[in-house]
Amino acid sequence: MPLFLSLLPITYAFYCLAIVVYRLFFSPLAKFPGPKLAAITGWYEGYYDIFARGGEGGQFARQIEKLHQQYGPIVRVTPRELHINDPTFFSDPYGPSTRSKPMDKSDKFRYRFGIPNATFSTPAAEQHQERRAALNPFFSKQRIRGLHEGLTENVERISFRFATEYAGTGKVVNFNDVWSSMTMDTVTALAFGRSTTCSAAPDFEAPLAKGVQALAWYAHWNTHFQIFNDMMRLIPVPIMLKLMPHVKPIMEFQSCIREQVAAIVDGKDVKATEVSHPTIFHDIINSNLPASDKSVDRLTEEASSVVGAGTETTKWVLTVGTFHLLDNGPVLARLKAELAEAMPDSSKILPYSDLEKLPYLSAVIQESLRMSYGQVQGMPRINRLHPWKFNEWVIPPGVLVSMDAYSVHSNETVFPNARAFQPERWFNNPTGPGGRPLSHYLTSFGKGSRGCLGKELAYMELFVAIATLFRRFEMELYETVRDDADFVLDMVVPMPPRDSKGVRAIIKSVS
Ligand code: HEM
Repeated sequence: MPLFLSLLPITYAFYCLAIVVYRLFFSPLAKFPGPKLAAITGWYEGYYDIFARGGEGGQFARQIEKLHQQYGPIVRVTPRELHINDPTFFSDPYGPSTRSKPMDKSDKFRYRFGIPNATFSTPAAEQHQERRAALNPFFSKQRIRGLHEGLTENVERISFRFATEYAGTGKVVNFNDVWSSMTMDTVTALAFGRSTTCSAAPDFEAPLAKGVQALAWYAHWNTHFQIFNDMMRLIPVPIMLKLMPHVKPIMEFQSCIREQVAAIVDGKDVKATEVSHPTIFHDIINSNLPASDKSVDRLTEEASSVVGAGTETTKWVLTVGTFHLLDNGPVLARLKAELAEAMPDSSKILPYSDLEKLPYLSAVIQESLRMSYGQVQGMPRINRLHPWKFNEWVIPPGVLVSMDAYSVHSNETVFPNARAFQPERWFNNPTGPGGRPLSHYLTSFGKGSRGCLGKELAYMELFVAIATLFRRFEMELYETVRDDADFVLDMVVPMPPRDSKGVRAIIKSVS
């Protein structure tokens, strides 16, 4: 064997040793508390994301919770990242990004959903700001409220099906599928001006909505094995469909989006008149973004990101809310009493602008948001130019700092008895630490320059869907346990165990 070949393993071993020594003793993060293994290698996180819990993965957020119990409110959780557990600090990493204080998003998760150039995935603060500005009109309050009619049509379709196919028959309805299909129908109407009709699918099992659900299971693999992501792009479509048949509807959907984008870019469909309102593509094309940002590829990524961001998130809040309402007699009775008084004729559902004034319904929705968390995975931010101060610690510029909604929403000081579903905690303008309104500590939608753009739409869906179905139907849980609506796995968003059959119920009768 040539000498240089036999030296290769030794050289590599020295290289690894040098990295370990640097990370443990010389890195700017060396002084921060945390397990040595996490300081040495990103595979500490990889293990909990992919292999822990007997191969189910999704345990890093839980592990971080344990690390905080052991090491305190700031912990080094990977070689490059600190995690902070202190609800009063949330607005620092997730505050405004400015020219003098640019806050970047880490590129750590950029490729996990195959949309590296969408606004959501854009790391640099300046480029993110430009791209977000182009999306802003699309999410304006006026545009979102203009979707009200389409949303009520979707909810009426579900309601009609409950009344005619399910009520009194003993047939079991799976709310995970109901809410997945409703959110998909709503967000596609917003983004493309044409709604999918997932909520008309038999048993509410729409292949497209199911496909988007399944994608979450690959997020950690894509993060830790970049090659996995590249392979997915390189594998010919027929082979891919053999390996992962459930992604077929997504591929078809993406090629539909692509065709629509290409037509708009080619000037064949520039008028927004063929659809009910300007689509996401019209907004971006009419923006000041550079031509490279208006390419078919990037527009397709942007559209896919909005569909991804707007479906599973809202669906999970509705699923968690449905479970806790059906599991909690007194809460359900109080909600139903308020709804019956506000809407004596159950066939006439109040518009969202009136529903949001109902105090108990509002409290139920806040509590559903709290207990469904939003993003449970740490969302790393980088203060590019300035050091940060956290308690006695000074965090150098350029370091990844993450927090998450789970640690904030389950903090017993802010939300006593945090595991309990208690809408009453939102009554009488409650305050949290520092005398701030309790709602300041509801961080489901993130905050600041990268906070959720779809918040207004999500609230409208939550109010209209919960009010309509709980006003109209008497329902009972069917073989459902708390784990089915709990954060058991961190698949970026919270998920129940893999073998969960979902939150299922029987529609006993029409109210
Ligand atoms: C209850 C439902 C929802 C929750 C809990 C939620 C949560 C979040 C969170 C936590 C972020 C920030 C992520 C980060 O910083 O890495 C975010 C961003 C975003 N969300 Fe939502 N979201 C919801 C609904 C929606 C809907 C309905 C849409 C679209 C129709 C949407 C579109 C977006 C977009 C485009 C971004 C990226 C914003 C940016 O990077 O500037 N979301 N969402």
